[in-house]
Amino acid sequence: MSNWPLKTTLSILQSTPGHEGFSLPSLDVPEAPAPTRARAAKPKLPELSELSVVRHFTRLSQLNFSIDGGMYPLGSCTMKYNPRVNELTSSFRGFARLHPLTPDHFAQGALELMFHLENLLSEISGFARVSLQPAAGAQGEYLGIKMIRACLEARGEKRTKILIPESAHGTNGASASMCGYTVLPVRGTEAGLADFAQIEELTRAGDVAGIMITNPNTVGLFETEIQKITQLIHDRGGLIYCDGANMNAMLGVTRPGDAGIDCMHFNMHKTFTTPHGGGGPGCGGLGVSKTLIPFLPVPTIEKNPSGADDFILEHERPQSVGKVKDHYGHFLMMVRAYTYIRELGADGIQKAGRDAILLANYIRERLKPHYDIAYDKTCMHEVVFSDKRQNKNGIKTLDIAKRLIDEGFHPPTIYFPLIVQGALMIEPTETESLSSVEKFCETMIKVAGEALEENAFEKHFKDRPRHVAFGRVNETLAAKQLKLTWKDLE
Ligand SMILES: Cc1ncc(COP(=O)(O)O)c(C=O)c1O
Repeated sequence: MSNWPLKTTLSILQSTPGHEGFSLPSLDVPEAPAPTRARAAKPKLPELSELSVVRHFTRLSQLNFSIDGGMYPLGSCTMKYNPRVNELTSSFRGFARLHPLTPDHFAQGALELMFHLENLLSEISGFARVSLQPAAGAQGEYLGIKMIRACLEARGEKRTKILIPESAHGTNGASASMCGYTVLPVRGTEAGLADFAQIEELTRAGDVAGIMITNPNTVGLFETEIQKITQLIHDRGGLIYCDGANMNAMLGVTRPGDAGIDCMHFNMHKTFTTPHGGGGPGCGGLGVSKTLIPFLPVPTIEKNPSGADDFILEHERPQSVGKVKDHYGHFLMMVRAYTYIRELGADGIQKAGRDAILLANYIRERLKPHYDIAYDKTCMHEVVFSDKRQNKNGIKTLDIAKRLIDEGFHPPTIYFPLIVQGALMIEPTETESLSSVEKFCETMIKVAGEALEENAFEKHFKDRPRHVAFGRVNETLAAKQLKLTWKDLE
């Protein structure tokens, strides 16, 4: 393979003077001079043929691990396959070319899709309404807590604290703190669940605005006392935020709105495909209970109150918390989520949730004899192991992760959740076949065996990965001497 090993070469270094990557038709209008404000010197752009440009970007795309290339069992990220039909619908000219400032009456198709998507999400989650505006899960959290604050203030309450289980994603604490709250951590029980007794104790003083709880939680377990928790918080005047990043496991099985949750963000870019692992646009739509409807961000999408058969954007909402994102959020993500939900239908959505759980439990059973399991009971759509056994022989979670890359697998999420030392968090998603999941298990078992051999690090783990463009970097040095310009890299 002439491309192997894959090399990273900047396009500017491949430049050959006189080469062109475009062929424009000859001018059929008089040539006009460039405006005088234009730059004096030619920009230093690479001069390359079209084929060289195609090869350059194809090579770059091969350097990235992708779901299209192999299994991506990154826990908490739901890296599921992106059906190609999503790309088809999101590239429809009327959607892809729609300007965000298009007046409502010229954007009826888009508004209708958003309206129906909100309704579908309400049905799936049991919430009274949904805002599609947040651009990511973390922004959904921020919006939800802002709305909880606005609601409590409208009641004349100045509560100052938010409870967050220790296992939560870091964004929960950040969102609460950005909204001006002090975070009180809630410890986990031995069974891996939020400690109800401690929640009861911490809410006695009456200064707790609410709780942010992830369900299923980040150790892959369903919070079985969720209804008891919501009841208690409500009785004591607070509200309940649910981090819905793990909604994949609940699809068509249970509805957070029915459990008394007041608001929850969907990581729509996980649950409804298009995971944003590469840092692309996301959508953190927020479902809310009736209590929070007045505080929704503007604009909301409404059926025309005049009775006409069309949709309008409603900006006049006196108690609204305002906006968290310009325009209406990431519209094409909504088109993808809508396509995915409609393609699967009610039965398909439920099957997706159930299959995700089934595959995670398959992995749990297969790997249990070889890796230490954090909480040994039926899990939801992800399962958390640790490096406890391997670490006794000097092999750590990071070594296992790097070793897996050479076997063609993206590593699982490592060292998260923080409450599990040396965590390896595995989420297969329902879009993997049983045979690819089995192949992954066999590889994990092989690596577990290597880790217990004499001289294991020297023999199997040192300098891994070896078969990809970038080997193991000195992460401490990279953090201390960050080099971000290509000149420094030469
Ligand atoms: C449990 C959990 N909560 C919240 C988030 C934040 O979501 P986002 O990355 O879309 O901001 C994540 C992201 O991985 C997560 O796993």
